[in-house]
Amino acid sequence: MANERILVIGASGQIGVELTLALRSVYGNNQVVAADLREMNPLLEGTGPYVSLDVMNKEMLHVQVIRQNITQIYLLAAILSATGEKNPALAWNLNMQGLLNVLEIAREEKIQKVYWPSSIAVFGPTSPKQHCPQHTIIEPTTVYGISKYAGEFWCSYYHQRFGVDVRSLRYPGLISYKSAPGGGTTDYAVDIYHQALNKGQYTCFLRSDTQLPMMYMPDAIRATMELMEAPADRIKVRTSYNLSAMSFSPEEIADSIRAHLPAFKMDCKPDFRQAIADSWPQSIDDSPARADWGWKEEFNLASMTADMLMQLKH
Ligand code: NAD
Ligand code: SER
Repeated sequence: MANERILVIGASGQIGVELTLALRSVYGNNQVVAADLREMNPLLEGTGPYVSLDVMNKEMLHVQVIRQNITQIYLLAAILSATGEKNPALAWNLNMQGLLNVLEIAREEKIQKVYWPSSIAVFGPTSPKQHCPQHTIIEPTTVYGISKYAGEFWCSYYHQRFGVDVRSLRYPGLISYKSAPGGGTTDYAVDIYHQALNKGQYTCFLRSDTQLPMMYMPDAIRATMELMEAPADRIKVRTSYNLSAMSFSPEEIADSIRAHLPAFKMDCKPDFRQAIADSWPQSIDDSPARADWGWKEEFNLASMTADMLMQLKH
């Protein structure tokens, strides 16, 4: 473990900041190199090495992997669902070419492990709405979902064909207080806490009864670390694992906030993101992740809301 050298690409993003800090606490600050196209997130300041890097530039990425003696790569750079619908070509290019660059370098340099997240966005309107299983009809209707589904098969292909140990989770919507979300359909579930505390009021861009699968960031970070630490023979799904913790609608999260802030008010003005949300399942069956490497969530809606409000008040 002491000899691992880990590169986190997209380290200044919503997941990247917390994952980089968590990896640094396990592997040592100097063993985890944070990389991003944009400037270093202030929360990473003084916690370890940072390089400015564009994952689309394969040569630049290759040089960094060799120069930094990298043994594991976590690829988080991507364009998410809502931003992707505004610029489909850009989303496809970044989400696909970034992954292919990392997989090729991992093969060439015999990188020990690669992590790449997929999403519940792989599922589409023809997938089961409730308890959507690991293996089912998958016909995504967003460019983001298409890129994630294609990416899952590239990961599986590099594993079968070249032996690259690439692992993946289909994250639900992630809720965090440390860094802001980056253009997804589930971002409302972060913003609502900020607005509840700052203004006592929130206008949601989804209908009040829109149920979606969600997870609190500490659970998502722990799931990622547990997946990556599991022995390779426990990883039976080489596309991407379903992963679940809770499901709720805007009206249910508003009710959970009202348990702490009784005067909180929410109204809804659905926009183009409603169609994206309506295409996704409302809940996920993640039994393979639980059976294969022992996944279990800690947070539900009530405990997440209590923690979010407490953390944001400080
Ligand atoms: P984010 O948008 O917050 O962060 C992505 C980071 O990648 C940003 O800091 C951005 O500057 C960086 N980046 C963009 N283009 C780059 C490039 N060319 N080279 C280097 N860095 C670049 O996204 P996130 O929410 O942290 O998501 C990380 C991963 O997790 C993505 O693959 C996303 O699809 C996946 N995911 C996220 C969620 C969620 O709810 N946040 C849910 C499912 C899956
Ligand atoms: N949270 C993400 C999004 O809404 C799901 O991948 O795009």
